[in-house]
Amino acid sequence: MTTPNSGTRLALLVALAAFIAPATATAGDPAAGKAQFDLYCFVCHGMTGKGDGPVAPTLNPPPRDFTVGEFVFDTDGDGKPGTDADLQNVITKGALAFGGSEMMAPWPVLTPEQVADLIAYVRSLKQ
Ligand code: HEC
Repeated sequence: MTTPNSGTRLALLVALAAFIAPATATAGDPAAGKAQFDLYCFVCHGMTGKGDGPVAPTLNPPPRDFTVGEFVFDTDGDGKPGTDADLQNVITKGALAFGGSEMMAPWPVLTPEQVADLIAYVRSLKQ
């Protein structure tokens, strides 16, 4: 008698796991990140992330060139700049909070998922 029941339960668990997995994944989606980047970030960082957006010539220091893939701020003091935690901190709290330019403003409007997507996209720009 228990066989059909446990079979049904297993099928439900599999369906549930498939449903939950994408929502709990921590890795960002670069395609979704590009959509955010093209809205909020391109004016400074440029459409291809080279740091050559329309207002870039007015900025000193210049916006980071993401095609180089090097980062400056070690926001959590672990000795390694440019970790996911560092990029998350710079994007949500702004570079000024870590001794950088106020022009890299904080983006509190972004959800944690959007920030993860942006980080994935920014990393994908490295050439
Ligand atoms: C108004 C111009 C401007 C906009 C808009 C802007 N940035 Fe920046 N960004 C900068 C500047 C300038 C720097 C360099 C800051 C410094 O070195 O002090 C920078 C640096 C960075 C860095 C490098 C951090 C490091 O440790 O080297 C990241 C990552 C970054 N920006 C992400 C973003 C993202 C994501 C967006 C969009 C949500 C964005 N920026 C929008 C100007 C801008």
